[in-house]
Amino acid sequence: MLLALESSCDETSVAVIHDGRVLANVVSSQIKLHAEYGGVVPELATREHLRNLLPVAREALRTANAALGVPPSGGSVASEPAEARTPNGLDAIAATLGPGLPQALMIGARAAQAMAFALRKPFFGIHHHEAHLYSPWIAGQPSVADFASFQPNVSLIVSGGHTMLVFVEAELKHHLLGSTVDDAAGECFDKSAKLMGLPYPGGPELDALAEQGDPRAFDFPRPMIRDLHDDFSFSGLKTSVRYFLRDQPFILDDPDRVRDLCASVRASIVDVLVTKTVRAAKRLGVKCVTASGGVTCNRALRKQLAETCAQNSLTLRLADKSLCTDNAAMVGILAERKLQHGVAPTSLDEEVKPSWPLAQRQTAGS
Ligand code: KG4
Ligand code: ZN
Repeated sequence: MLLALESSCDETSVAVIHDGRVLANVVSSQIKLHAEYGGVVPELATREHLRNLLPVAREALRTANAALGVPPSGGSVASEPAEARTPNGLDAIAATLGPGLPQALMIGARAAQAMAFALRKPFFGIHHHEAHLYSPWIAGQPSVADFASFQPNVSLIVSGGHTMLVFVEAELKHHLLGSTVDDAAGECFDKSAKLMGLPYPGGPELDALAEQGDPRAFDFPRPMIRDLHDDFSFSGLKTSVRYFLRDQPFILDDPDRVRDLCASVRASIVDVLVTKTVRAAKRLGVKCVTASGGVTCNRALRKQLAETCAQNSLTLRLADKSLCTDNAAMVGILAERKLQHGVAPTSLDEEVKPSWPLAQRQTAGS
């Protein structure tokens, strides 16, 4: 059994994992707090992590003990509610070590290292993007135990902070194929939505409005869609939306046209993501595609990935919507796989790694 912490950005999360099963996954999101500022404010995020980590951990432990059928009495620490005590048989502690906001990472990682020290358990410092690779395998069927049978695969990780394609060659063995050279896709959704006057984070709002719009109403660029490499670029698309609205501000007075605009912007972003993901999968000859990260909640992305993968005889694994955004379950699942594969634990003195690139794929001539 394993206790995992995630605090790399604006979600404080604690999970308890046992044999590939998520016994608890408690997430406290700070979205409402940062909405006022139109983006994540690192100092506020740090303060909230400090404030929330213990209550979130207590709730996770209570939930895990209830799942294990442990009666809510007999706690050994007087000041601690009995039902929140650490489950018996804890094998290891894990936390996200990077990449992410430096101080935010420190809260979770230092707490996990201190717990590992006090409990004399191994500590696993986890790469946030590697953890995302595991979230499509957590809920539903097949489970994480079948992860190995779907390799190699190509994974799209797409959120407010990152957009990347990863080649998962085998379990615990993966390489970065490409990533955004400027804005992440989620950032493009959010900034386009902001230009339309939608509240932060605008991605989900824009997605909802797009459902009733015509995606062919306006023609926006599809950056890098024809380029054969696996990098992305979304800042130009955001700029196109800005110029479009500068030249036709009256569009915003017509709700039907706003819905068309949302649908057209969404279609551009989704076309690029789907085309490049499926092209990479075909080029590498894999049979499976996976996707995770907040933008994977997008309805059009889920639908278009499903249709295009089916047309190309590719199996698709999408993270469950509840696990697309940051959570400790994916951190714990990966850490447990490391433990089971005999990977050496991380030093208790290891520093957080705010910038921690995934290993690049070596191509011929590079
Ligand atoms: O994974 P996540 O919490 O972000 C980072 O850790 O960076 O995802 C948040 C991002 C935001 O940009 C949000 O607007 C976007 O995911 N998002 C969506 C949708 N739901 C969340 N974007 C488009 N359509 C959605 N339905
Ligand atoms: Zn993330």
